[in-house]
Amino acid sequence: MKGHLVGKYNIPGPRYTSYPTVPYWETRTFTLEKWKETLVRSFKESNAEEGINLYIHLPFCESLCTFCACNKHVTKRHEVERPYIDYLIREWNMYLELLKGRPLLSGLHLGGGTPTFFKPKHLKYLLESLFETVDIYENKTFSFEAHPNHTSFEHLQTLYDLGFRRVSFGVQDYDLKVQKAIHRIQSFERVKLVSEWSQKIGYESICHEFVYGLPFQKMESIERVAENIALLRPDRVVNYSYAHVPWIKGLGQRGFDQADLPSGLLKQALSERLREHLTEMGYHQIGMDHFALSHDSFYKSLVETKIHRNFMGYTHSKTQLMIALGASAISDSWYAFSQNFRDVKSYYQALDKGDLPVFRGHILTQKDLIIRRHILNLMCRLETCWSKASMYFDEIPKVLERLEEMRNDALVEFLQEGLRITPAGHSFLRNICMAFDLRLIREQPQTRLFSMTI
Ligand SMILES: C[S@@+](CC[C@H](N)C(=O)[O-])C[C@H]1O[C@@H](n2cnc3c(N)ncnc32)[C@H](O)[C@@H]1O
Ligand code: SF4
Repeated sequence: MKGHLVGKYNIPGPRYTSYPTVPYWETRTFTLEKWKETLVRSFKESNAEEGINLYIHLPFCESLCTFCACNKHVTKRHEVERPYIDYLIREWNMYLELLKGRPLLSGLHLGGGTPTFFKPKHLKYLLESLFETVDIYENKTFSFEAHPNHTSFEHLQTLYDLGFRRVSFGVQDYDLKVQKAIHRIQSFERVKLVSEWSQKIGYESICHEFVYGLPFQKMESIERVAENIALLRPDRVVNYSYAHVPWIKGLGQRGFDQADLPSGLLKQALSERLREHLTEMGYHQIGMDHFALSHDSFYKSLVETKIHRNFMGYTHSKTQLMIALGASAISDSWYAFSQNFRDVKSYYQALDKGDLPVFRGHILTQKDLIIRRHILNLMCRLETCWSKASMYFDEIPKVLERLEEMRNDALVEFLQEGLRITPAGHSFLRNICMAFDLRLIREQPQTRLFSMTI
């Protein structure tokens, strides 16, 4: 990639896991009553057909990785497990009461934090309690995130028996210097072992998650990552761009200096190198940062244009309604978003008061809904169009003006009534979406809110 493009376009920008992005939510006009109305509407519209998705946030981790931007609670006290699960069940029961119907569950994801911090018997109790209250869709997709160092054979077997077929292991990097800097020592042997267990048990999709742009990362680190991927052949690989967001309170990104991070140009080269290796190994790129082998259902969904993007990143389990349980979890009724209290204590206190533990949210306007569709199209399908009246909005000519420079740089092509991202534009997806983001354009942030786009 030409260095001048990285210089020009490597600016702070959203990752577009939602539109509007969280800092631009209109929290003042949001109320719990309005949120509940959109939930009921969305449930009625979608439950019988496609069902609903459930996300469960399990925030505990045994130790702090200093690069981590996830919402987590570090503790070695496993007594926290059972009370947390009881609160999750209480929260779910509140949703059941509100929806007044038996949900059809088509997708379920356990995220964190570290879901495998919880003992298998506690996860089993939680999930069996939920399953008693729902019908389960035949082609369901149940997945979870797992830390290789804290995942036992029993975890994998228990979750498999409960219907989970996809597991995603956080690997980050195999380089010891990088691992020390991010306070996460994890051997290749351990990743190999948990991956082999998963295969033996029968998991259909094993994913390894890496991060590029970590402190002290060099080209050799990426070569090693590629060698190990070639040895283990996970069905999916995710290569996240390191989000350096130390200004967000409570994050652990303090174990290294800014100067230890690779420059924008090197960071981009690290990502491109892994992409080249993965392509040679037969992986197909999906969206910004996901890769899948041809037999993986994620790739099949890409071909059938069924990829979706939500707060967890790319997914192929798309439903109109996603209810998210647990501290900090963000729910999506398509017409509105809501976020739960972020720390565990406030989450418990809110539930003790007898209502949904929501602390902020946003009700989408008609224009938000149109822009949301365009951003999803670009993020998932690399093209969008506004030939239908339902996809047009008055500012489209201005959007095109903003994209003119990227067109001259051969990053996007203008179509009759739409646009397509070129292969060279793939790395600049976030910048291209920013041209549609009317809320960001109207009100430029006064402080740093977002990580760099490259
Ligand atoms: C919840 S963790 C995965 C499960 C488990 N806690 C673990 O670490 O293995 C989710 C993933 O988000 C990614 N991640 C966390 N912080 C990040 C950051 N600052 N920038 C980019 N990716 C990040 C990592 O790849 C991590 O594996
Ligand atoms: S990377 Fe995973 S284990 Fe490490 S702090 Fe973040 S959520 Fe916890």
